[in-house]
Amino acid sequence: MTHRAPEVWIGEDAGTLAREGARRIAEAARRAITARGRFVIALCGGNTPRRLYRVLAAEEHGVDWGRVVVLFGDERMVPWDHPESNFHMVRETLLDHVPVPRQNIHPMPTDLTPREAAAFYEREIREVLDPRDPRIDVVLLGMGPDGHTASIFPGSPLLIEGEGEGGRRGTAFAQATLCVAVTDAPKPPERRLTMTPFLINHARQVLVVVAGEDKVAAVSAALESDAEPGEIPIRAISPEGGILTYLIDRRAARALTNPPR
Ligand code: 6PG
Repeated sequence: MTHRAPEVWIGEDAGTLAREGARRIAEAARRAITARGRFVIALCGGNTPRRLYRVLAAEEHGVDWGRVVVLFGDERMVPWDHPESNFHMVRETLLDHVPVPRQNIHPMPTDLTPREAAAFYEREIREVLDPRDPRIDVVLLGMGPDGHTASIFPGSPLLIEGEGEGGRRGTAFAQATLCVAVTDAPKPPERRLTMTPFLINHARQVLVVVAGEDKVAAVSAALESDAEPGEIPIRAISPEGGILTYLIDRRAARALTNPPR
């Protein structure tokens, strides 16, 4: 697999990182809306993304929210009003505070069986994306201390190259798997839904936000090791025709031997 080197940006602390992430998302939104009339973003859960959503909601970034379409990169199989729900968190921190039309918001369903929910959401993604160019503009991701991203955990069958990732590189979009159920996540809750590496790697831009002391080893493994994606899932993320950017705070980046200046 050929990996284009990711862009790495290191910020002073988690707050600086949240501001930089929000700034970059707003810039991508303005560009996408100018070029294609709308901006499709996939959001995720986690504490680092949560801070970013708060900044995006609080500050004026010149985003035309009426043209923003929101998908979810992963979700926990709990009701939408449950404190563990990613949709609940994103609603509280961002969506309740900006004028995104309700019909542009696509939470993952959690009131079906995981398998049915994944199939339902896969159809929804296909309806949302432009069939002539089915690419998400920005996929926002966090990373766990074990290197997981979205709900793709170490040892996931999605990480078997060319077999499980949703389709081999080169697989036609129509034939690929875009969303799957996870029933044995090591981080609770066990039952989740996640976009596949195939879909994420189809994005125009993937933005990974990582902060905190507990991420030091995972950041080094992600960026400066030969670890297999099966061990460090984020290493499966490498958008083919897009840009991969890591925004990391100084604490999480402290073991990098070759940090950007
Ligand atoms: C989830 C998330 C998950 C998260 C990482 C990082 O639903 O659990 O989508 O992939 O982004 O675990 O989370 P933190 O920023 O809280 O460390």
